[in-house]
Amino acid sequence: TYVVTDNCIRCKYMDCVEVCPVDCFYEGENMLVINPNECIDCGVCEPECPAEAILPDTENGLEKWLELNTKYSAEWPNITVKGEAPADADAMSGVENKLEQFFS
Ligand code: SF4
Ligand code: F3S
Repeated sequence: TYVVTDNCIRCKYMDCVEVCPVDCFYEGENMLVINPNECIDCGVCEPECPAEAILPDTENGLEKWLELNTKYSAEWPNITVKGEAPADADAMSGVENKLEQFFS
């Protein structure tokens, strides 16, 4: 599966939702997550994210993100249409440790 990671937080560009063939993105206030049980591993969303926040969970150290995507995709509503990114999305891109600082 692919998972959404740190740099999505407060960037939330939402280009990813437009390309997913199985509509498996879920929306929280500050970020989106992928439902790992629905993702078919097509990889199409990865290059679409301007924040480079989407990664295959086979990369090292992504266990906590797999957990977070699994947990919140069960709680948050499905999203299939791109909305407007936060006004300061570009300024927030690349800020470190967003999970600890901004996740709510
Ligand atoms: Fe959707 Fe494919 Fe991305 Fe999985 S890898 S979330 S199926 S676009
Ligand atoms: Fe987040 Fe990138 Fe999608 S910033 S909302 S994963 S396009």
